[in-house]
Amino acid sequence: MTTAQPTVPDGMRADVELAQRGRSEMQFLQAMRAGLRPVQARLRTRLEEGSALSSGTEDIARLRAEVDEELAQDADPGLIGAALRWNRSVLTPRAIDAFDERAEDLTPKATAPAAGDITDRGDEAVPRYWRYEFHGTTGGWDGHEHMGFIHHELVYRYLLVPSFPGDIFGQRAAVARLAPRQDYADICDLGCGTGQFTMKLAQTYPEARITGVDLSTSELRYAQRRAAEAGLEWDLHRAPAEDTGLPSEGFDLVASFILLHEMPPHAIRGVFAEALRLLRPGGDLVFSDVAPYRLRSPYQAWYDDWDAENGHEPWWRTAATIDLAEVAREAGFTDVRQEALGKESYPWVTLARKPEQERE
Ligand SMILES: C[S@@+](CC[C@H](N)C(=O)[O-])C[C@H]1O[C@@H](n2cnc3c(N)ncnc32)[C@H](O)[C@@H]1O
Repeated sequence: MTTAQPTVPDGMRADVELAQRGRSEMQFLQAMRAGLRPVQARLRTRLEEGSALSSGTEDIARLRAEVDEELAQDADPGLIGAALRWNRSVLTPRAIDAFDERAEDLTPKATAPAAGDITDRGDEAVPRYWRYEFHGTTGGWDGHEHMGFIHHELVYRYLLVPSFPGDIFGQRAAVARLAPRQDYADICDLGCGTGQFTMKLAQTYPEARITGVDLSTSELRYAQRRAAEAGLEWDLHRAPAEDTGLPSEGFDLVASFILLHEMPPHAIRGVFAEALRLLRPGGDLVFSDVAPYRLRSPYQAWYDDWDAENGHEPWWRTAATIDLAEVAREAGFTDVRQEALGKESYPWVTLARKPEQERE
Protein backbone atom coordinates (compact mmCIF):
# COMPACT_ATOMS: atom_id res chain seq x y z
CA MET A 1 0.00 0.00 0.00
CA THR A 2 1.33 3.47 -0.78
CA THR A 3 0.59 6.56 1.28
CA ALA A 4 -0.29 9.78 -0.54
CA GLN A 5 2.49 12.39 -0.60
CA PRO A 6 1.53 15.84 0.65
CA THR A 7 1.01 18.46 -2.05
CA VAL A 8 4.38 20.04 -2.71
CA PRO A 9 4.26 23.72 -1.77
CA ASP A 10 5.97 26.30 -3.95
CA GLY A 11 9.66 26.57 -3.22
CA MET A 12 10.07 22.91 -2.30
CA ARG A 13 11.39 20.00 -4.34
CA ALA A 14 8.78 17.77 -5.95
CA ASP A 15 11.25 14.87 -6.17
CA VAL A 16 11.84 14.18 -2.47
CA GLU A 17 10.67 10.62 -1.95
CA LEU A 18 10.79 9.21 1.55
CA ALA A 19 10.72 5.53 2.39
CA GLN A 20 7.32 4.32 3.61
CA ARG A 21 8.29 4.31 7.29
CA GLY A 22 9.80 7.81 7.22
CA ARG A 23 6.78 9.19 5.40
CA SER A 24 4.33 7.52 7.79
CA GLU A 25 6.16 8.85 10.83
CA MET A 26 6.18 12.41 9.48
CA GLN A 27 2.49 12.11 8.58
CA PHE A 28 1.70 10.74 12.02
CA LEU A 29 3.36 13.77 13.66
CA GLN A 30 1.39 16.08 11.39
CA ALA A 31 -1.89 14.25 12.08
CA MET A 32 -1.24 14.47 15.80
CA ARG A 33 -0.97 18.26 15.56
CA ALA A 34 -4.17 18.39 13.53
CA GLY A 35 -5.85 16.17 16.13
CA LEU A 36 -5.02 18.67 18.87
CA ARG A 37 -6.90 21.47 17.14
CA PRO A 38 -10.39 20.64 18.47
CA VAL A 39 -8.95 20.45 22.01
CA GLN A 40 -7.26 23.82 21.50
CA ALA A 41 -10.52 25.30 20.16
CA ARG A 42 -12.39 23.96 23.22
CA LEU A 43 -9.82 25.53 25.51
CA ARG A 44 -10.06 28.86 23.69
CA THR A 45 -13.86 28.94 24.02
CA ARG A 46 -13.63 28.19 27.75
CA LEU A 47 -11.05 30.92 28.30
CA GLU A 48 -12.94 33.49 26.27
CA GLU A 49 -16.09 32.76 28.26
CA GLY A 50 -14.24 33.09 31.60
CA SER A 51 -12.66 36.11 33.25
CA ALA A 52 -8.92 35.33 33.19
CA LEU A 53 -8.27 37.05 29.86
CA SER A 54 -9.75 40.34 31.04
CA SER A 55 -6.43 41.67 32.39
CA GLY A 56 -5.36 42.27 28.76
CA THR A 57 -2.04 41.86 26.99
CA GLU A 58 0.07 44.72 28.39
CA ASP A 59 1.49 42.62 31.25
CA ILE A 60 2.08 39.13 29.88
CA ALA A 61 3.37 37.71 33.18
CA ARG A 62 0.12 38.73 34.87
CA LEU A 63 -2.00 37.36 32.01
CA ARG A 64 -0.14 34.06 32.19
CA ALA A 65 -0.59 33.85 35.97
CA GLU A 66 -4.32 34.61 35.81
CA VAL A 67 -4.98 32.13 33.02
CA ASP A 68 -2.85 29.47 34.73
CA GLU A 69 -4.94 29.91 37.85
CA GLU A 70 -8.20 29.60 35.91
CA LEU A 71 -6.86 26.48 34.19
CA ALA A 72 -5.50 24.84 37.33
CA GLN A 73 -8.23 22.17 37.35
CA ASP A 74 -8.37 21.78 33.58
CA ALA A 75 -6.89 18.71 31.87
CA ASP A 76 -6.70 20.19 28.35
CA PRO A 77 -3.62 22.44 28.71
CA GLY A 78 -1.67 19.55 30.26
CA LEU A 79 -2.71 17.27 27.43
CA ILE A 80 -1.89 19.80 24.68
CA GLY A 81 1.41 20.78 26.33
CA ALA A 82 2.58 17.19 26.78
CA ALA A 83 1.55 16.23 23.25
CA LEU A 84 3.28 19.27 21.70
CA ARG A 85 6.46 18.80 23.72
CA TRP A 86 6.65 15.16 22.70
CA ASN A 87 5.83 16.00 19.08
CA ARG A 88 8.58 18.60 18.93
CA SER A 89 11.13 16.42 20.71
CA VAL A 90 10.78 13.60 18.17
CA LEU A 91 10.23 15.75 15.09
CA THR A 92 13.84 16.41 14.09
CA PRO A 93 15.10 12.93 15.00
CA ARG A 94 12.28 11.41 12.88
CA ALA A 95 13.05 13.76 9.98
CA ILE A 96 16.77 12.89 10.25
CA ASP A 97 15.94 9.15 10.28
CA ALA A 98 13.70 9.63 7.25
CA PHE A 99 16.56 11.39 5.44
CA ASP A 100 19.17 8.81 6.49
CA GLU A 101 16.99 5.94 5.33
CA ARG A 102 17.09 7.36 1.79
CA ALA A 103 20.50 9.06 2.14
CA GLU A 104 21.84 7.59 -1.07
CA ASP A 105 19.07 9.19 -3.15
CA LEU A 106 18.63 12.36 -1.12
CA THR A 107 22.27 13.40 -0.53
CA PRO A 108 22.80 14.43 -4.17
CA LYS A 109 19.63 16.56 -3.98
CA ALA A 110 20.84 18.15 -0.74
CA THR A 111 24.42 18.85 -1.70
CA ALA A 112 25.47 22.35 -2.72
CA PRO A 113 27.08 22.70 -6.15
CA ALA A 114 30.31 24.44 -5.09
CA ALA A 115 31.22 23.79 -1.48
CA GLY A 116 33.86 26.54 -1.30
CA ASP A 117 31.64 29.46 -2.20
CA ILE A 118 30.42 30.37 1.27
CA THR A 119 32.62 32.85 3.10
CA ASP A 120 33.03 32.20 6.81
CA ARG A 121 33.72 34.47 9.77
CA GLY A 122 34.94 31.46 11.76
CA ASP A 123 33.72 29.43 14.73
CA GLU A 124 35.01 31.91 17.30
CA ALA A 125 32.39 34.43 16.08
CA VAL A 126 29.50 32.05 16.90
CA PRO A 127 27.59 33.38 19.95
CA ARG A 128 26.80 30.96 22.78
CA TYR A 129 23.03 31.52 22.60
CA TRP A 130 22.95 30.26 18.99
CA ARG A 131 24.15 26.81 20.07
CA TYR A 132 20.97 26.25 22.10
CA GLU A 133 18.76 23.50 20.66
CA PHE A 134 16.17 25.82 19.14
CA HIS A 135 12.62 24.52 18.87
CA GLY A 136 13.81 21.28 20.45
CA THR A 137 15.83 20.44 17.34
CA THR A 138 18.34 17.80 18.38
CA GLY A 139 21.82 19.23 17.81
CA GLY A 140 20.53 22.72 16.94
CA TRP A 141 20.53 24.28 13.48
CA ASP A 142 23.59 22.27 12.39
CA GLY A 143 22.70 18.97 14.10
CA HIS A 144 23.15 17.06 10.84
CA GLU A 145 25.36 17.74 7.82
CA HIS A 146 22.21 18.19 5.71
CA MET A 147 20.01 19.84 8.34
CA GLY A 148 19.22 22.67 5.89
CA PHE A 149 17.67 20.18 3.46
CA ILE A 150 15.99 18.19 6.25
CA HIS A 151 14.55 21.35 7.76
CA HIS A 152 13.39 22.83 4.47
CA GLU A 153 12.15 19.76 2.57
CA LEU A 154 10.90 17.56 5.42
CA VAL A 155 10.10 19.61 8.53
CA TYR A 156 8.56 22.50 6.62
CA ARG A 157 6.74 20.36 4.09
CA TYR A 158 5.27 17.82 6.49
CA LEU A 159 4.80 19.89 9.63
CA LEU A 160 5.05 23.64 9.35
CA VAL A 161 3.28 24.29 6.07
CA PRO A 162 0.24 22.11 6.92
CA SER A 163 -0.04 23.30 10.55
CA PHE A 164 0.73 27.00 10.16
CA PRO A 165 -2.36 29.23 9.90
CA GLY A 166 -1.30 31.26 6.86
CA ASP A 167 0.72 31.15 3.65
CA ILE A 168 4.33 30.93 4.83
CA PHE A 169 5.73 31.73 1.40
CA GLY A 170 3.20 34.41 0.46
CA GLN A 171 3.97 36.24 3.71
CA ARG A 172 7.66 36.42 2.84
CA ALA A 173 6.84 37.74 -0.63
CA ALA A 174 4.54 40.41 0.87
CA VAL A 175 7.29 41.58 3.25
CA ALA A 176 9.81 41.72 0.39
CA ARG A 177 7.41 43.93 -1.58
CA LEU A 178 7.02 46.30 1.36
CA ALA A 179 10.51 47.80 1.00
CA PRO A 180 9.96 51.39 -0.15
CA ARG A 181 12.01 51.39 -3.38
CA GLN A 182 12.05 49.30 -6.53
CA ASP A 183 15.65 49.84 -7.54
CA TYR A 184 17.88 48.23 -4.90
CA ALA A 185 21.35 47.37 -6.11
CA ASP A 186 22.70 45.51 -3.06
CA ILE A 187 20.48 43.62 -0.62
CA CYS A 188 21.56 41.82 2.55
CA ASP A 189 19.26 39.19 4.15
CA LEU A 190 20.28 38.59 7.78
CA GLY A 191 19.48 35.14 9.21
CA CYS A 192 18.68 33.90 5.71
CA GLY A 193 18.49 30.17 6.62
CA THR A 194 17.74 28.09 3.54
CA GLY A 195 16.93 31.24 1.60
CA GLN A 196 13.11 31.25 1.76
CA PHE A 197 12.88 35.03 2.24
CA THR A 198 16.08 35.57 0.21
CA MET A 199 14.35 33.97 -2.77
CA LYS A 200 11.41 36.37 -2.45
CA LEU A 201 13.81 39.33 -2.25
CA ALA A 202 15.64 38.04 -5.35
CA GLN A 203 12.35 37.63 -7.25
CA THR A 204 11.08 41.06 -6.18
CA TYR A 205 14.34 42.89 -6.99
CA PRO A 206 15.80 40.84 -9.88
CA GLU A 207 18.50 43.41 -10.63
CA ALA A 208 19.94 43.42 -7.11
CA ARG A 209 23.05 41.61 -5.96
CA ILE A 210 21.97 39.46 -3.01
CA THR A 211 23.94 38.57 0.11
CA GLY A 212 22.64 36.07 2.67
CA VAL A 213 24.09 35.86 6.18
CA ASP A 214 23.45 33.02 8.63
CA LEU A 215 25.33 31.12 11.31
CA SER A 216 24.25 27.70 10.12
CA THR A 217 26.55 26.04 7.61
CA SER A 218 23.96 23.44 6.63
CA GLU A 219 21.19 26.03 6.10
CA LEU A 220 23.55 28.15 3.97
CA ARG A 221 24.61 25.13 1.92
CA TYR A 222 21.01 24.36 1.07
CA ALA A 223 20.35 28.03 0.31
CA GLN A 224 23.29 27.86 -2.09
CA ARG A 225 21.84 24.78 -3.74
CA ARG A 226 18.39 26.35 -4.10
CA ALA A 227 19.83 29.54 -5.59
CA ALA A 228 21.89 27.59 -8.11
CA GLU A 229 18.85 25.55 -9.16
CA ALA A 230 16.92 28.78 -9.72
CA GLY A 231 19.78 30.09 -11.88
CA LEU A 232 20.74 32.68 -9.25
CA GLU A 233 24.05 33.57 -7.67
CA TRP A 234 24.02 34.78 -4.09
CA ASP A 235 26.93 35.81 -1.89
CA LEU A 236 26.50 33.62 1.17
CA HIS A 237 28.34 34.37 4.36
CA ARG A 238 28.50 32.46 7.66
CA ALA A 239 28.59 35.01 10.46
CA PRO A 240 26.49 36.41 13.30
CA ALA A 241 23.95 38.93 12.01
CA GLU A 242 25.07 41.34 14.75
CA ASP A 243 28.73 41.17 13.69
CA THR A 244 28.91 40.14 10.05
CA GLY A 245 32.42 41.38 9.27
CA LEU A 246 31.07 42.57 5.87
CA PRO A 247 32.29 45.96 4.61
CA SER A 248 30.51 49.10 5.88
CA GLU A 249 28.01 50.86 3.59
CA GLY A 250 27.89 48.00 1.10
CA PHE A 251 24.06 47.75 0.88
CA ASP A 252 21.02 49.86 0.12
CA LEU A 253 18.56 47.38 1.71
CA VAL A 254 19.14 45.25 4.82
CA ALA A 255 16.27 42.86 5.57
CA SER A 256 15.40 39.93 7.81
CA PHE A 257 12.47 37.54 8.31
CA ILE A 258 11.86 35.84 11.69
CA LEU A 259 15.46 36.22 12.84
CA LEU A 260 14.99 38.56 15.82
CA HIS A 261 12.89 36.23 17.97
CA GLU A 262 15.82 33.79 18.00
CA MET A 263 18.05 36.29 19.84
CA PRO A 264 18.52 37.78 23.31
CA PRO A 265 17.88 41.55 23.63
CA HIS A 266 21.54 42.64 23.43
CA ALA A 267 21.85 40.73 20.14
CA ILE A 268 18.65 42.33 18.76
CA ARG A 269 20.15 45.76 19.48
CA GLY A 270 23.40 44.55 17.92
CA VAL A 271 21.60 43.57 14.71
CA PHE A 272 20.07 47.05 14.32
CA ALA A 273 23.49 48.64 14.92
CA GLU A 274 25.08 46.29 12.40
CA ALA A 275 22.35 47.02 9.84
CA LEU A 276 23.06 50.75 10.20
CA ARG A 277 26.77 50.11 9.62
CA LEU A 278 26.07 47.92 6.56
CA LEU A 279 23.72 50.44 4.92
CA ARG A 280 24.73 53.33 2.70
CA PRO A 281 23.34 56.69 3.81
CA GLY A 282 19.67 56.78 2.76
CA GLY A 283 19.47 52.96 2.75
CA ASP A 284 16.43 51.00 4.02
CA LEU A 285 15.88 48.48 6.78
CA VAL A 286 12.98 45.98 6.63
CA PHE A 287 12.81 43.52 9.54
CA SER A 288 9.81 41.22 9.94
CA ASP A 289 9.18 39.17 13.06
CA VAL A 290 6.63 37.83 15.51
CA ALA A 291 3.59 39.91 16.44
CA PRO A 292 3.80 42.06 19.58
CA TYR A 293 1.60 40.71 22.38
CA ARG A 294 0.00 44.13 22.84
CA LEU A 295 -1.53 43.82 19.34
CA ARG A 296 -2.76 40.25 19.74
CA SER A 297 -6.08 39.27 21.26
CA PRO A 298 -5.66 38.31 24.93
CA TYR A 299 -6.22 34.63 24.10
CA GLN A 300 -3.71 34.70 21.26
CA ALA A 301 -1.07 36.51 23.35
CA TRP A 302 -1.55 33.99 26.15
CA TYR A 303 -1.30 31.10 23.69
CA ASP A 304 1.82 32.52 21.94
CA ASP A 305 3.61 32.87 25.25
CA TRP A 306 2.51 29.49 26.57
CA ASP A 307 3.40 27.80 23.26
CA ALA A 308 6.82 29.49 23.15
CA GLU A 309 7.55 28.09 26.61
CA ASN A 310 6.47 24.61 25.53
CA GLY A 311 8.26 24.89 22.19
CA HIS A 312 11.85 25.80 23.17
CA GLU A 313 11.57 29.44 22.06
CA PRO A 314 13.52 31.15 24.85
CA TRP A 315 13.55 34.61 23.24
CA TRP A 316 10.00 34.79 21.86
CA ARG A 317 8.65 36.78 24.80
CA THR A 318 11.48 39.31 24.42
CA ALA A 319 10.75 39.79 20.72
CA ALA A 320 7.00 40.06 21.37
CA THR A 321 7.40 42.72 24.06
CA ILE A 322 10.46 44.78 23.02
CA ASP A 323 9.74 48.07 21.25
CA LEU A 324 11.57 47.55 17.97
CA ALA A 325 10.73 51.07 16.75
CA GLU A 326 12.54 52.46 19.77
CA VAL A 327 15.47 50.07 19.22
CA ALA A 328 15.71 51.29 15.61
CA ARG A 329 15.70 54.96 16.66
CA GLU A 330 18.29 54.30 19.38
CA ALA A 331 20.52 52.64 16.78
CA GLY A 332 20.38 55.87 14.71
CA PHE A 333 17.63 55.13 12.16
CA THR A 334 15.03 57.69 11.07
CA ASP A 335 11.64 57.41 9.33
CA VAL A 336 10.80 54.47 11.56
CA ARG A 337 7.39 52.94 10.99
CA GLN A 338 5.74 49.61 11.66
CA GLU A 339 3.13 47.67 9.77
CA ALA A 340 1.04 44.59 10.44
CA LEU A 341 0.57 42.60 7.25
CA GLY A 342 -1.74 39.79 8.26
CA LYS A 343 -4.27 38.43 10.70
CA GLU A 344 -3.56 39.14 14.39
CA SER A 345 -0.66 41.45 13.38
CA TYR A 346 1.60 38.83 11.80
CA PRO A 347 3.89 39.37 9.93
CA TRP A 348 4.88 42.43 11.97
CA VAL A 349 7.28 44.60 10.02
CA THR A 350 9.62 47.35 11.21
CA LEU A 351 10.83 49.70 8.47
CA ALA A 352 13.44 52.45 8.87
CA ARG A 353 15.96 54.51 6.95
CA LYS A 354 19.60 55.33 7.57
CA PRO A 355 19.94 59.13 7.61
CA GLU A 356 21.62 60.66 4.56
CA GLN A 357 24.04 62.37 6.90
CA GLU A 358 25.14 60.24 9.84
CA ARG A 359 24.60 61.91 13.21
CA GLU A 360 27.67 63.17 15.04
C1 LIG B 1 13.51 30.84 11.80
S1 LIG B 1 14.92 30.78 10.77
C2 LIG B 1 14.48 31.95 9.53
C3 LIG B 1 15.18 31.71 8.23
C4 LIG B 1 14.75 32.60 7.07
N1 LIG B 1 14.95 33.99 7.31
C5 LIG B 1 13.33 32.32 6.61
O1 LIG B 1 12.67 33.26 6.21
O2 LIG B 1 12.91 31.18 6.65
C6 LIG B 1 16.11 31.67 11.70
C7 LIG B 1 17.52 31.60 11.11
O3 LIG B 1 18.30 32.55 11.84
C8 LIG B 1 19.58 32.01 12.02
N2 LIG B 1 20.20 32.72 13.17
C9 LIG B 1 19.83 32.70 14.46
N3 LIG B 1 20.61 33.54 15.17
C10 LIG B 1 21.47 34.10 14.29
C11 LIG B 1 22.51 35.06 14.39
N4 LIG B 1 22.84 35.61 15.54
N5 LIG B 1 23.17 35.41 13.29
C12 LIG B 1 22.87 34.86 12.08
N6 LIG B 1 21.90 33.95 11.91
C13 LIG B 1 21.20 33.57 13.00
C14 LIG B 1 19.37 30.53 12.25
O4 LIG B 1 20.57 29.82 11.98
C15 LIG B 1 18.23 30.26 11.26
O5 LIG B 1 18.74 29.86 10.01
